[in-house]
Amino acid sequence: MRVLMIAGPGAGKGTQGERIAEHFGVPHIATGDLLRDNVSRGTDLGKQVEQFLDKGELVPDQVVLDMVREALGAAKKDSGGFVLDGVPRTMQQARALYQVGIELGMTADVALHLQVAEDQLIRRLLARAEQEARADDTEDVIRHRLALYREVTEPILGWYNSRGILVSVGGERPVDDLTREILTALEMLRSVVDAAPEGERRSVDLTGLDAAFHAAPQGSSSG
Ligand code: AP5
Repeated sequence: MRVLMIAGPGAGKGTQGERIAEHFGVPHIATGDLLRDNVSRGTDLGKQVEQFLDKGELVPDQVVLDMVREALGAAKKDSGGFVLDGVPRTMQQARALYQVGIELGMTADVALHLQVAEDQLIRRLLARAEQEARADDTEDVIRHRLALYREVTEPILGWYNSRGILVSVGGERPVDDLTREILTALEMLRSVVDAAPEGERRSVDLTGLDAAFHAAPQGSSSG
């Protein structure tokens, strides 16, 4: 299984990405984690990107693409699958990643979108700021990350939708419930992925399930 996670800051890419990777026995490649690891180890790359991370700016495409190419090369030798979390974030990255995927014979099967309202994202990240010390979890920087997501990342979803590989899931439910829903959807898609080439697939929109789960019965007998 080869999955791209595309969602706003705090939507649960890391939380769900790790679980999906474990379920399918593939590496969880999170660009934010890789970059932060370089910063904390004080590598040349870390020094180069620290300012971008602290301000919530995107690091230059080439830095990310080199890192991802290397990680995908390792994934190819291993299971051949991956969960890519945090990339692509721009249309240029999406196209470049597609080329890398073609070269390596491992283009994505699914682009998984977690849909979460902005006020919820801000609440989650401010709550995380009280537990962890991520330099970019201040309200101003969070708002900037959200604006960047809206402007340059969200539009990519249309491209994956037109390729028939977009799976949209409502992300405002308890973590375990969401994992179950995502894994069920991915398991169902696995057989389709194996049987149908990309052009013959259809995107899947499960965001309506969120509303269904939120709807209180209100004593009605409709079930
Ligand atoms: P990155 O690390 O990718 O940060 P992000 O996209 O802002 O996402 P987060 O890690 O904040 O959130 P998440 O969606 O993973 O949610 P999580 O599971 O942690 O990138 C950081 C920076 O690196 C970027 O700003 C940029 O500078 C650079 N960068 C990275 N990739 C790049 C690229 N491709 N190009 C250029 N620059 C790049 O959950 C968040 C919180 O919510 C947690 O506390 C969690 O416990 C909680 N939570 C999760 N799920 C739920 C739930 N269902 N209900 C309630 N709470 C939940």
